[in-house]
Amino acid sequence: MSQKALVVETAKTPFVLKSVPIPKPGPGELLVKIMATGLNPVDHFVQAYDLLPNVKYPIILGCDAAGTVEELGEGVQGYTKGDRVFFVPDLGASSGGFQQYTAISVDHLAKIPSRISFEEAASLPLTFCTAVIPLLAANPVGAGLNPTFDPNVSFKGDSALVIGGSSSVGQYAIQLLKYVGYSEIITYASAKHSDYLKSIGATHVIDRTTVALSALPDTIKTVTSSPIKLVYVAFVQAPEIMEVGYSCLAHGGQMPTAHPAPTKPEDAEATGRKIYGVYASTRIEPNIEFGNLMWKNISKLLEDGVIKPNRIEHVPNGLAGIAGTLPRFEGGSAGINGMKLVLNPQETP
Ligand SMILES: NC(=O)c1ccc[n+]([C@@H]2O[C@H](COP(=O)([O-])OP(=O)(O)OC[C@H]3O[C@@H](n4cnc5c(N)ncnc54)[C@H](OP(=O)(O)O)[C@@H]3O)[C@@H](O)[C@H]2O)c1
Repeated sequence: MSQKALVVETAKTPFVLKSVPIPKPGPGELLVKIMATGLNPVDHFVQAYDLLPNVKYPIILGCDAAGTVEELGEGVQGYTKGDRVFFVPDLGASSGGFQQYTAISVDHLAKIPSRISFEEAASLPLTFCTAVIPLLAANPVGAGLNPTFDPNVSFKGDSALVIGGSSSVGQYAIQLLKYVGYSEIITYASAKHSDYLKSIGATHVIDRTTVALSALPDTIKTVTSSPIKLVYVAFVQAPEIMEVGYSCLAHGGQMPTAHPAPTKPEDAEATGRKIYGVYASTRIEPNIEFGNLMWKNISKLLEDGVIKPNRIEHVPNGLAGIAGTLPRFEGGSAGINGMKLVLNPQETP
């Protein structure tokens, strides 16, 4: 049986839409018919610039998927054909999200609550992991704000800052800080997103179109008199953004980030400030233990409305719409505008 897939055959070559075999689910895996897949900056930067180290070609990209269970691999329990699931696909020659079917281990997925659409579910996997691992996982993986998803954890009275709050990652960081009870959640984002960001938990929005990044540490002091004990840096490509985040952080505070490998500042020990990076996969160490717990808890967080999916912009033409859309991630993702770009591979002409 064959399906349509979008393949990058060798480094820095255009996507090729082609027919490939439908994978067979191995032991402990499900075969999933993908009904929605999200676009992420990494898809563009790998295809166009061969950005990630150790990428093996050919590769099927696509880091977010939601769909229906079609077939159960040997030994799988707790799932039946037709279940709706979402997950971060493993990237590889036959496993990414830019295809109509993929196989995935049951340890790294969750069922989609009935109130959540496939497209909404596909807005979460990679960017939610990017926010939740460095924020909630126990030290030294993350800041340890709530490693067990205890509903009684509260940082009432504390203040936090999210730099890049309108990005997909930033929107989940804001919601997670609200979940663990921060009293003040200040975010640095374009003012056009203010109403939406306040609706998901931000208490103050500092407009990045009128306040230069370099002015952020001083501007925060006009917004709150409380020390900023937690800074989450949700957009990491901009020059100086990590340094500015660190400048906003109170001594003794913690700075989880979306950066895969942040540099530790020289005065970190002396000032008691800690920085955390993330490689947002729950399949690799040191993320596996927390990741397993995260997949067990994420459906309830969605079901209860604690975490709301991103708002969606539907990309037409299924897999055939990807190549023309990914360049919108160039130059700080200005063309993304706070939405998650999602498509349905089954709509591929
Ligand atoms: N480490 C990992 O494993 C991992 C995984 C996934 C993503 N990431 C990283 O996480 C970050 C967010 O990814 P995403 O998919 O959520 O991005 P996204 O949704 O494409 O982010 C788009 C938004 O970023 C904001 N932005 C752009 N430049 C900014 C700046 N200089 N300061 C503050 N905000 C800025 C813009 O906000 P406005 O509209 O408000 O101007 C834009 O709407 C990226 O840096 C990405 O590389 C890391």
